[in-house]
Order: sequence, then C-alpha cells, then structure tokens
Amino acid sequence: MSETGYRLIDFGDGRKLESFAGRVFDRPSPAAEGVQKHSPSRWKSADSVFQETSRRWQHRTAVPDAMTVELDGFCMPISPTPFGHVGLFPEQALNWRWLMDTAPVAVAPPASGLNLFGYTGASSIAMAIGGMKVAHVDAAKPNVATARLAAGCNGLTDHPIRYLVDDAVKFTARELRRGNRYQTIVMDPPAYGHGPSGKAWRLERDLWPLIDSCLSLLTPENFRFLITGHSPQVRTMDVVDYLQSQIPPRFDLSQSQFMGGLRSGRLSLRDAQNRKLDAGFFVQCTRQLSR
Ligand SMILES: C[S@@+](CC[C@H](N)C(=O)[O-])C[C@H]1O[C@@H](n2cnc3c(N)ncnc32)[C@H](O)[C@@H]1O
Repeated sequence: MSETGYRLIDFGDGRKLESFAGRVFDRPSPAAEGVQKHSPSRWKSADSVFQETSRRWQHRTAVPDAMTVELDGFCMPISPTPFGHVGLFPEQALNWRWLMDTAPVAVAPPASGLNLFGYTGASSIAMAIGGMKVAHVDAAKPNVATARLAAGCNGLTDHPIRYLVDDAVKFTARELRRGNRYQTIVMDPPAYGHGPSGKAWRLERDLWPLIDSCLSLLTPENFRFLITGHSPQVRTMDVVDYLQSQIPPRFDLSQSQFMGGLRSGRLSLRDAQNRKLDAGFFVQCTRQLSR
C-alpha cells in the first residue's frame, strides 16, 4: 500500500530523514546535532537531499508535479523550497488538533482567527476546519500564495480566509486601531525576519510588544492564544512567565474559571525507534467563560 502521510524515519549527525507521502527527504536539522543516526543504511533511500554547503537540493528521483500529504483532519501540498523546507512543519500536529477541536462554536458571524507568520497556512486551515473565519498574515508573497493553494486542496477556496502580505507587527497595530477583535491568535515567529518593506523582526526584541498587542486584540471573554518558537533565544518559561504577568491585569479573571489556562511544552517528532527529535516550544493559552 502506498504511503500517504508523514513519518520521521531517522535522525542524527545534524540531519533528519523523513517520508512525506512516501517521498523520502534528507535535510539539515540543528536539533539532530550531537546524536548518532540509528540506521545509517536507510539514508541511501532518500529521494531528495538538501546540501548544507551549496544550500541546494539534489534530487535522485524525479520530483512529482504535485505531492500531497494526508494529515490528521486535512491535507497539505508539499514541494521542496530553496531554503530546504518542504511546505509543512509536522511538529505542529498537536497544535492543529487543538485548533480544530477547541474552536469557539461557530456563530453568525463566525469566530475570527488570526494566523501571524502563517507561512504554509496549515494553522489557518485548522482554524477554518474548526469553523472560524481567518486572517492569514505573512511577509513573503510566495509563502502567502502557497498557503492559498493549500486551502484550495482542502476544499476551502470559498471559505472566509483573508490572505495578507504584511508585517505581523504593523498588521496587529492596525487591527487594534480599527477596533477589530479575534477569538484565536496563533503566532509562530522566526528568530529573524523582515516585513514586506524590509522592517526587521528580531524575536528577542519584538516578541514581547507583539504579545502585548495580541492580548489587546483578543476578545476578553473567550479566547485562545498559541505561541510557538524554535530558537534558543526565547525559552518556554520566558513566554509562560510573561503571559502570567500580563494576563491578570488585563482580564478580570475573578469572573471566570480560567479554563485550560496555560499549557506549555516541547514540540517534537518521533522516529521509527520512538526517539524524540526536539522541535521547539509551544504555549497554549485558553480563556473560556462559556461555551
Ligand atoms: C517559522 S515560519 C512559520 C511557519 C508556520 N507556523 C507554518 O506552520 O507554516 C516563519 C514565517 O514568518 C514570516 N515572517 C518573517 N518576518 C515576518 C514579519 N515581520 N511579518 C510577517 N511575517 C514574517 C516568514 O515569511 C515565514 O513564512
């Protein structure tokens, strides 16, 4: 039977070996430094290898025109990118499930979700499947085009998802001024980046004011806020501590059970030997007065 899903086969020596719908990719993984590959012989089966020195893919078999990976609840098109990505971050699976399962009950108008640094659009799709209308923001035009394509693969072409090529910080500030509010905000910021006009994004410097803006953009009674990160500059506890200091003064918690509250941990992938490959942190924050 042909494979349709995602699988981490092996990792070690700074690389990971993965199967996306049966096509095998060998690419760099800083989290796999200092660990030995478990099954070195399996790496010969790679169809595509991303060379770190030349920053190029070497394809040993022809890359199909269209490839799609079946996930838990939706599917994603994949394609090797010039940065060694493939258009999917499978370590986010637990967050997609959370976004699909705990979405506020769709009412008219439906609840609004905001996906900042949205890239592949997988989290936008998860929110859309949960019944939300979505604003998907990314600074890179090609990434936004890819996200639109991914929604189309899931029959969501006509779903209210707004695709915005914009700076996450500027967009959030503009939404605050407009008085718009969101029930769910998702952000997966990189360590370094820049907006469409070149404005620099630096995680350590810019995360905290962006979290502040997002807390002001969230609907006070019911909200979900998801923050993920992949670089050592910001640790899980830094984000948890910051939220714990900022949420009580902004929201009247006496009226609510702060249901779910804060849940945090590490994102990871498991290989065929059940070894864990670290993939950053997540912090899920939920407030729900009624449902
Ligand atoms: C770590 S990726 C996000 C991956 C995403 N969670 C997913 O699953 O596809 C970071 C994204 O942030 C975007 N980006 C970088 N700086 C930005 C900025 N200032 N404003 C908006 N997007 C930015 C990049 O174009 C990139 O697509």
